[in-house]
Amino acid sequence: MKILRIEGGRPLHGDIEIPGSKNAALAILSAVMLGDGQGILHNVPEVSDIHYKLKLLSQFGAKVHWHEGTLVIDCGNISSVDADEDVVHPIRTSFYLLGTLLARAGKASLPAPGGCKIGARPVDFHIKGLRAMGAEIELDGGRYVATVKNGLHGAKIHLDFPSAGATQHLMATATLASGVTEITNAAIEPEVTTLADFLIRMGARIEGAGTSNVTIIGVEKLQACEFRVPEDRLQAGTFLLGGAITRGDVTVRGIMPEHQNALISKLQEAGADATEGPDWIRVASNRRLKGIKIKTMPYPGFPTDIQQPMAAVLGLSNGVSVVEETIYESRIGHVSELNRMGAQMQLEGRFTIIEGVKSYQGAQVEASDLRAGAALVLAGLAAEGETVVRNVHFIERGYERFEEILTTLGACIRAEGTPESERAHGGRLGVT
Ligand code: EPU
Repeated sequence: MKILRIEGGRPLHGDIEIPGSKNAALAILSAVMLGDGQGILHNVPEVSDIHYKLKLLSQFGAKVHWHEGTLVIDCGNISSVDADEDVVHPIRTSFYLLGTLLARAGKASLPAPGGCKIGARPVDFHIKGLRAMGAEIELDGGRYVATVKNGLHGAKIHLDFPSAGATQHLMATATLASGVTEITNAAIEPEVTTLADFLIRMGARIEGAGTSNVTIIGVEKLQACEFRVPEDRLQAGTFLLGGAITRGDVTVRGIMPEHQNALISKLQEAGADATEGPDWIRVASNRRLKGIKIKTMPYPGFPTDIQQPMAAVLGLSNGVSVVEETIYESRIGHVSELNRMGAQMQLEGRFTIIEGVKSYQGAQVEASDLRAGAALVLAGLAAEGETVVRNVHFIERGYERFEEILTTLGACIRAEGTPESERAHGGRLGVT
């Protein structure tokens, strides 16, 4: 079991390049199933969620070779449509393979999905959308068993909420359905647009991705392609917050600054200096920030994934902050642990009321999920004395070379124990 040992109190300074986006890569790794031939993906982040996803694709018969961020993958020969519970369960996007397997092989059987425990996370929009396209789906002993008799067909699908995952899953599946599919109230997250770009590169016909109305005109076949996964906006946001919480000066490069508008505007409101160029953002601060209000919303609102790291930053601000989490009812695992470090945070339903304190004290804390883990690391970087973060496998789900990048920025952080990626793939992934 890996732990992180952090000696706090060192301001982060410097410029960093951000690794590829976990969430974009995970969605693409469901859609790869739709294409014939050998595809090449660049900038695939080395995080444990990707290791699990590739293990799953290998179980279905995909041939995978991953080296230094470049993934060569061939899904031309799908030999199974059934997957092991222990490979599917750790990551939520395994479930997005239900539709793409159906489109490709006419049947699929997958255990109900897992992922970070941050709320109920139902899959009803996914099921309803696939059924509208002609799928028959039963939940049998904890597994979704899906079949389709005469092929999938286009449908009108309205999402009750702009779910990123349901938009991605249904959009990808619809590319091989006959006729036209219209998804209304679709998510407009950058990862949805990236997936559409990937599918179009494979030969799909998609209009309106990145808006609330997406139209997919089904095609007969898709061909594997070469594609570069864009940089991870959530990792970028976390490092920028590292600059703010340690009263340092951090620049992240190779990113799309417009994806960070909500975060930057809130950091500026709190009193941090934030500037941007065509593909970079710099956040600097040399004083205590002010307390502010945050409300998470679907993109382009304030991202739920940045809410927990932001709470760690606001815990050290001057005054009271209020953080409202509207997407996930239990994305709160950071609160009790930050309080162990001296924070003054109280939960009231979906609100976290934060009374800013002058300093955190190092402590032994446990990550309860990916972004809670990032929040604890940020707090540890700013705290007096040593912080030990346990359950680091959560952090490894979505942060590539986390401690290495933080070290280049001047942090004193050391990992001890075995990384999750080695458990996820039974040894580091090379050739399978
Ligand atoms: N929802 C339903 N029914 C559904 C699907 C979603 O009620 O069938 C609800 C969810 O319970 C939630 C809301 O809709 O309340 C939004 O969920 P969404 O489907 O958008 O989330 P997701 O696709 O499961 C992705 C990211 C999350 C990120 C959210 C929101 C991946 C692998 N995960 O999840 O990322 O928080 O979108 O942007 O892409 C993370 O990286 O830490 C993470 C959790």
